[in-house]
Amino acid sequence: MSLAERARAILAANDRGGYTVPTDKLYPFQWNWDSAFVAMGFATFDIDRALSELEALMRGQWADGMIPQIIFHQPADSYFPGPDVWRTHHAIPTSGITQPPVFAIALAFVAERAGKDFEPRISALYRAALAYHRWWARARDPGQRGIVAVLHNWETGRDNSPEWDAPFARVPQTTTTAIVRRDLSHIDADMRPRDEDYRRYIHLVDRYAALRWEPAALWQSAPFKVADIGINAILGAAEEALGALALRFGSSAERDEIAGRRARLSTGLSDLWSETSGIYLSRDLISENLIPIRVSAGFLPLLTETCPEHAQRSLARHLDRILRDELLPIPSTLPGEAGFEPKRYWRGPVWAVVNYLIARGFERHGLTDEAAGLKQATLNAIRDAGFCEYFDPTTRQGLGGGTFSWTAAIALLIGEERLALAA
Ligand code: SER
Repeated sequence: MSLAERARAILAANDRGGYTVPTDKLYPFQWNWDSAFVAMGFATFDIDRALSELEALMRGQWADGMIPQIIFHQPADSYFPGPDVWRTHHAIPTSGITQPPVFAIALAFVAERAGKDFEPRISALYRAALAYHRWWARARDPGQRGIVAVLHNWETGRDNSPEWDAPFARVPQTTTTAIVRRDLSHIDADMRPRDEDYRRYIHLVDRYAALRWEPAALWQSAPFKVADIGINAILGAAEEALGALALRFGSSAERDEIAGRRARLSTGLSDLWSETSGIYLSRDLISENLIPIRVSAGFLPLLTETCPEHAQRSLARHLDRILRDELLPIPSTLPGEAGFEPKRYWRGPVWAVVNYLIARGFERHGLTDEAAGLKQATLNAIRDAGFCEYFDPTTRQGLGGGTFSWTAAIALLIGEERLALAA
């Protein structure tokens, strides 16, 4: 079977009827940003199925516009924490937090390829994306400073990045929920977050559930409040994508509204640039300090139109250094950082979805060699190690869960462009 055929087979195996689980057992529900990438992967061969993936996310959307991190469409007991821990109130059970807003980026990607017949469905999804972006601005940037905050590390999608170590020092390890980790029955403990991390993750869930997940109450009470560079860059790019969709599906008032948020986010992103590190950084919004840890997400502002040239050049130099060190690009935490661990989840391993977004970013600024090199390296890693959750940048070994939907989606997206789908 060719790589593309294998990728499609993984999407088919992880299909639960209109939505896709990230991988069997380890993640048996629908995840927000996973499904956005999966929708783009499906769009390479099946627009109807791509739209279903986004529509299933839309069914989980809260009345206030938030699209949750997890939608528990059907029960499963192989994952912790389940709906009984989250205690939210949506008709379909969901978690109480969100994830990187790739949704509108995916929708714009699908819409570009879709024929006229799909317009009513795309229009409904556009309205969901608009409500989602309004939620981000209202709930997570109430002061309108142009950077949005996450209140739980699981919102970043980069759960145990060393960036969160210092902000987490403020979060107690006490919980009212018994922690029964299921992930460790599927994956080696040294590739996953530690127990002390989990106690803090669940402390936050308990605290926010007690506040009935009311956004203003969470904002007041949160002991963890971080401007994640990944989310802010993705939201900036997602507002651009939404603006393009609004040309076809929105009103002129909506186009102005989106342009306003986009301009604010662009100013906010410049506030996350570090001249000393030569890369974008996350900011702890309680101490107000930039978090001086270089991570692959620090490349993601390349996705935005306004990423300045000096930043583009500096990020290209970072990539060049990684390649000269003969590492698989781009480690989630850059080697040389004290927290770098090449096998532990977001503390070092390479993730295909992040590479794909960064490659798109280099491409849009004309840095085509960087983009092509990054895509080829990602495709090679998948071909050699399989459709794994993540890859060790030092050995190129595949790690975490196998047969991963979003890794399959990225293989389809890159493979489609490069026509290099050798078996
Ligand atoms: N990635 C998280 C987990 O490991 C959830 O989003 O459970």
